[in-house]
Amino acid sequence: MLENKLLITGLSVSYFLHNKNINAVDNVSIELKSCESLGIAGESGCGKSTMVSAIMRNISPPGKITGGRIFLDGEEITKLSDKEFDSKIRWKKISIIFQGALNSLDPVYPIKSQFKDLFESHGQLYDNNKVITILENVGLEKSVLQKYPHELSGGMKQRVVIALALLLEPDIIIADEPTTALDVLVQAQIIKVLKKLKEKGISIILISHDLALISALVDKIGIMFAGKIIEFNTTKEIIFAPKNEYTKNLISSTPQLRKKVQEKKFKVNAKNLKDF
Ligand SMILES: Nc1ncnc2c1ncn2[C@@H]1O[C@H](COP(=O)(O)OP(=O)(O)O)[C@@H](O)[C@H]1O
Ligand SMILES: [Mg+2]
Repeated sequence: MLENKLLITGLSVSYFLHNKNINAVDNVSIELKSCESLGIAGESGCGKSTMVSAIMRNISPPGKITGGRIFLDGEEITKLSDKEFDSKIRWKKISIIFQGALNSLDPVYPIKSQFKDLFESHGQLYDNNKVITILENVGLEKSVLQKYPHELSGGMKQRVVIALALLLEPDIIIADEPTTALDVLVQAQIIKVLKKLKEKGISIILISHDLALISALVDKIGIMFAGKIIEFNTTKEIIFAPKNEYTKNLISSTPQLRKKVQEKKFKVNAKNLKDF
């Protein structure tokens, strides 16, 4: 049996505002085996970004993690100090591509400096060969290193961000809405890049409001609604045999998925006819 790569139990996060509290993540539990990829889908505001930010300890006031335990390869990482988490886990075991990250590349430095900074912040020397290999993995040429962010297209910037996330060879990459700001063709290219990484054995956690996009990549899907994971299953079960009414509505409101389900039903019916 495959070991748990990532185990999250009872994760809860609230935002304490002056007039009310928002329970943005409410008792969420997730289990991910080695090399498995996971998708989290749900409408805007359901708590997806808060959940992954909590995994990465990126919640700041008025937000607060109010409960939960997180285990990575069997070790409870919620017990680590922030310093230990930063030196052992962040970038090295789990990297995150934050929502909107492609617009957060520092505009005043060429791309090479952004790689250099990341190496240096982990006490490592800039390794040009390694950077070039990683750039190749995400479909970029080494000439991007001399360029400034504003000289790159959105798709190229997102590839740079993915390359940065890969730099210290993490086992898990969390990508929060990595394609939202991109046009459809470029979205497909970015999903292809993530697919290639998955084939190399990296677990991808893909967050999106777009269930069709998620289902093209991941093995398991969690459907999130109002801070809770309301359905969690394999991609196949979620798409073709959803149990929760909300999941069913989400699928029927996604044209590509509606078509997929109808094609499958047609195939099943045709098979039944042949039996007679
Ligand atoms: N910094 C914040 N301060 C207050 N409320 C927040 C903050 N960030 C998110 N929220 C609230 O938490 C809920 C979940 O937000 P978020 O995690 O961004 O959802 P999603 O990523 O699914 O769109 C929403 O109601 C949102 O308004
Ligand atoms: Mg979000």
